[in-house]
Amino acid sequence: MIELAFSILAADFAHLADQIAAAERGGGTIIHVDVMDGHFVPNISFGPPVVKAIRPITRLPLDCHLMIENPDAFIPDFAAAGADMIGVHQEACRHLHRTLQLIADHGMRPAVVINPATPVESLVEVLPMVHHVLVMSVNPGFGGQKFLPLALDKIDHLADLRREMGLNFRIEVDGGIAHDTVASVVQAGADMLVAGSAIFSAGQSAEQTARAFLVAARAALSVGEPVAEPS
Ligand code: DX5
Ligand code: ZN
Repeated sequence: MIELAFSILAADFAHLADQIAAAERGGGTIIHVDVMDGHFVPNISFGPPVVKAIRPITRLPLDCHLMIENPDAFIPDFAAAGADMIGVHQEACRHLHRTLQLIADHGMRPAVVINPATPVESLVEVLPMVHHVLVMSVNPGFGGQKFLPLALDKIDHLADLRREMGLNFRIEVDGGIAHDTVASVVQAGADMLVAGSAIFSAGQSAEQTARAFLVAARAALSVGEPVAEPS
């Protein structure tokens, strides 16, 4: 099942509850919360108090993407604030296995995130522990960047590993996902699509943009895998 995880980083923070409600009416089923600390990435966003404020206004799961150093120190705070899923960067975790276990021990679904320069192979040992793998298709830190096509091979590789290893983790992709890139990531095997500016900064309502985005994503799926060129 293809799901839209809309990123509130691109929303109008002065009207966050309305923006979330609109994206949900348009078919978004996961709220993607981009947490940045000014150290792991060159930008600062928001943290557990914003998660806590959103929790009572929606039933959608809160997917917290931690772009922070030392995520272990903040996992209890995110759990207390009401997060459902926590994604930590492979590059930020010296003891990745321990961190993923800590997330699970706090009753949340663990996920691992890889930057564009990090290979899928570095995750093989932890794949049985995760709810999803998040493949970054931009260098993290900012919304509105251009999609990096190198993400496609990584998604495809993860889909192969999932099959070969008999696992059922989901494959999430994040960064530059919009009308012109959504078909390629869906066809490569992604099933949790993060989109921020495509949903919240398009000059239309988030309900309309979310609906159109999902129509395009599902149409790409029904077309199926591209057929190999005859040699
Ligand atoms: C980037 C964040 C993304 C970002 C996506 O560091 O992790 O979730 O908000 O924004 P768009 O969809 O605008 O690329
Ligand atoms: Zn993100």
